Amino acid sequence: TGKFTYDPGFLSTASCNSTITYIDGDKGELLYRGYPIEQLATNCDFLETCYLLLNGELPNQSQKDEFVGRVTNHTMVNEQMQFFLRGFRRDAHPMAVLTGLVGALSAFYHDSTDINNPEHRKIAAIRLIAKMPTLVAMAYKYSIGQPFVYPKNDLSYSGNFLRMMFATPCEEYKVNPVLERALDRIFILHADHEQNASTSTVRLCGSSGTNPFAAIAAGVACLWGPAHGGANEACLNMLEEIQAMGGMSKVGEFMEKVKDKNSGVRLMGFGHRVYKNYDPRAKLMQETCNEVLAELGLENDPLFALAKKLEQIALEDDYFVQRKLYPNVDFYSGIVQRAIGIPVPLFTAIFALARTVGWIAQLDEMIGDPEYKIGRPRQLFVGAAKRDVAPIASR
Ligand code: CMC
Repeated sequence: TGKFTYDPGFLSTASCNSTITYIDGDKGELLYRGYPIEQLATNCDFLETCYLLLNGELPNQSQKDEFVGRVTNHTMVNEQMQFFLRGFRRDAHPMAVLTGLVGALSAFYHDSTDINNPEHRKIAAIRLIAKMPTLVAMAYKYSIGQPFVYPKNDLSYSGNFLRMMFATPCEEYKVNPVLERALDRIFILHADHEQNASTSTVRLCGSSGTNPFAAIAAGVACLWGPAHGGANEACLNMLEEIQAMGGMSKVGEFMEKVKDKNSGVRLMGFGHRVYKNYDPRAKLMQETCNEVLAELGLENDPLFALAKKLEQIALEDDYFVQRKLYPNVDFYSGIVQRAIGIPVPLFTAIFALARTVGWIAQLDEMIGDPEYKIGRPRQLFVGAAKRDVAPIASR
């Protein structure tokens, strides 16, 4: 002991050098490869953003066409995956199912098993980005007992996802361009966020040289928690609870509970380890929220009104001001997803779908780093000193 620095929660330990995502938490600034998130969310689509995260530069038109062609070529999953999926209970949590499905990809695609081989990593990357929407939609269709909808490759990435989620064989499905764009924006905003818990998990898992699909499955598992990706689901559940308690009239009472340290209640979708200012993603999400609700005629959505009220109170309340707690990306994303028709338990799976590219880009960067070693944190041992085992009769 004494040899190592103890830093619980990695508050001040950098685990890597990275060139992918930059966050200035005090200013509330987020850049992917140097580009402000606001510009990417406004001028680019998700697959362009994926290309940027993976390659370091935005694609020109022919690079984009080639990349989109490669991704759409891999949107189907092996038919056998259906049998694997059918082994789950229909009421299983989608994140439980997705952790299993993504891990299972490692049993199907044997041309992309060697994480240390750049070609294998490239194929795994394309397969994962292409297949995540198919897997998430399959998990959803299975949970509601509807037939699976196969991918349709002349649609956009998010348009295809909407169709796989909501089309049925009984009628024509037309993708709503406002919802398509909103979903695409959700994907862009969630695509990467430097060394968060799930990304660090993927790096640590991948550092052992494991199968790339297995490393991403570890990221999915970590993302599930309510302090991380699970916050969008927890946030919507919170809004529904306040609504059930009596809505607007109960907001004050709820906020008192949040501020009472003994209650164990947090304002979900608020606060961030890195942002000590407004999360720029939350601003963009609020904009999208307005667009989607207007498109669907849901401007008077009571949960949106509640969210705005909670935000307004929090931004003026000493408790939140002193601790620099602002809305994070999850505060409004749940309302948008719910309006689109995505069921609450699926929210974190959508986050996983979008974050997959970030996980892959970070994994790729780690393995390409000449200083890359297996991740092996040390500890400060505080347990029993050396002692002798007594025979069981005398213990
Ligand atoms: N509601 C009420 N109090 C809070 C909240 C909140 N949402 N977040 C932090 N605090 C308080 C906390 O009690 C502590 O107070 P004190 O200093 O008096 O003990 C102080 O603020 C600092 O909080 P912390 O837990 O030490 O901060 P952290 O950096 O360890 O945690 C966090 C960051 C995101 C886990 C936390 O803010 C939180 O639990 N937020 C709610 C869950 C959430 O929205 N998570 C999504 C994060 S963004 C997307 C993602 O990462 O996936």
